[in-house]
Amino acid sequence: MQDKIPKHIAFIMDGNGRWAKERGLARTAGHRRGVQRLKEIVRGASELGVEIVTFFAFSTENWDRPKKEIDALMRYLDKFLDGQIKELERNNMRFRVIGQGNPLPKFIQQKIQKAESRTKDNTGLIVVLALNYGSRQEIVDAVKRFTTYALKDDALLKQLTPEIFSRYLYTADLPDPDLLIRTSGEMRISNFMLWQLSYAELYFFNKYWPDFTINDLKEAIRDFKTRERRFGGIDADQEVN
Ligand code: IPE
Ligand code: IPE
Ligand code: MG
Repeated sequence: MQDKIPKHIAFIMDGNGRWAKERGLARTAGHRRGVQRLKEIVRGASELGVEIVTFFAFSTENWDRPKKEIDALMRYLDKFLDGQIKELERNNMRFRVIGQGNPLPKFIQQKIQKAESRTKDNTGLIVVLALNYGSRQEIVDAVKRFTTYALKDDALLKQLTPEIFSRYLYTADLPDPDLLIRTSGEMRISNFMLWQLSYAELYFFNKYWPDFTINDLKEAIRDFKTRERRFGGIDADQEVN
């Protein structure tokens, strides 16, 4: 049992489409509502003293969805960025995006850069958005980057450790998530932070993301505090006979 709240919480915001379908609405209505929840959770997490929140917003596999849905998601993202820059600045929050920027529309990339640079010196909650993010792609990108350096310097390969390798990931400057929360009842990782979640505590909610509230977040944190994190060791109070 630990008393500490998780420093870094990662969210797989899933179930927007099903939430809308159950109400006879278009899937995009679920995404719109999902963005509202995201904003509420950012505020709530900051008030609770969490240091970093990462939200899986669009995966490398989500391009397989109909163009109409992707376009709507990009529109909501655009609006989110417009509204959030001021909000983040006002609240001393830092904004970061992880994922491959290139395939995203240019105007979105520009707004991301603006939000990142305008908030880079803030010292409060770090808000990370995983956009066009895929963990396998991230690892491949890290290997490519590492290799370009290693080809020029043999010693790099000999010295390579997991800690050093992790500095080549998109999350180089972020600690691993302590807690992963996925909504919608699906119990899978869906190519999200495979490396970084190695020792995260997992919490699955049956609710869809548009129904996820601050109280649910508090519940997950309460539950996190009851977990015994051993990282492969044994409990401190256990004797070895
Ligand atoms: C999560 O909700 C949001 C994104 C993946 C962009 P979904 O759109 O996956 O909703 P379901 O899972 O189909 O209900
Ligand atoms: C994971 O949800 C991706 C995001 C939340 C952005 P998906 O809905 O894409 O995952 P699967 O298809 O259920 O595994
Ligand atoms: Mg889904």
